[in-house]
Amino acid sequence: MDEEQWRRVDEFLVARLLGDDPELAAALDANEAADLPAIDVSPAQGRLLTILARMADARDVLEIGTLGGYSTICLARALPEGGRIVTLEKDPEYAAVARANLERAGLAEKVSIRIGDALETLPEIAAAGEGPFDLFFIDADKKSNPDYVRWALRLARPGSLIIIDNVVREGRVLDADSGDPDIAATRALFDLLAGEARLTATAIQTVGVKGWDGLALALVD
Ligand code: SAH
Ligand code: DHB
Ligand code: MG
Repeated sequence: MDEEQWRRVDEFLVARLLGDDPELAAALDANEAADLPAIDVSPAQGRLLTILARMADARDVLEIGTLGGYSTICLARALPEGGRIVTLEKDPEYAAVARANLERAGLAEKVSIRIGDALETLPEIAAAGEGPFDLFFIDADKKSNPDYVRWALRLARPGSLIIIDNVVREGRVLDADSGDPDIAATRALFDLLAGEARLTATAIQTVGVKGWDGLALALVD
């Protein structure tokens, strides 16, 4: 088993199950043209986000880490009439690419992009009384994931779903002595998920076109 086989199987699954997707393809083209890093969720993971958001009957979604809006499009597609996504992005140039991608996909009116460090925009969102949110997708700087989960808990209701990307990082999560703050924070994240009585949590490893990583899912009681 190697990365090349994971990639080929992922491509097989996506070809069978997802079909052509002009809006997402155009978003990836625009991201590449604007030199954004190719760290969006994979097509299969994006479809998982759409399915989870529909299963959760999500109407209000909070995303942390927009990049070019690939995952935002996947989440926005799941929303009912009147549903909305608030998505947080620190880089104004990435946010501009995301806005254009969302407009091209016909989803811009469902999405509010808030530019700035999420640790500054989250308190504003809470102070403005926005929320509760039905679903959270946390996919920004990994070192802040414990803080982002604490904010999600403040902005959640019983039944909200919190999804956290990139919690395995090619197995580096096992390294208790890692000098990498992202890994230390990922381990602290698992301690938080395990110790928080309001959460029922799991995590699933993923392999495919984006390598070996994983997603954590936590349901708020
Ligand atoms: N969710 C996107 C990928 C996000 S990549 C998708 O799947 O399509 C991570 C993003 O988080 C990057 O765009 C990065 O600029 C942003 N980011 C990193 N640190 C941040 C912070 N402190 N506040 C807000 N955004 C941040
Ligand atoms: C990185 C960030 C992500 O959100 C991701 O899915 C993959 C990689 C990164 O910062 O390297
Ligand atoms: Mg990610």
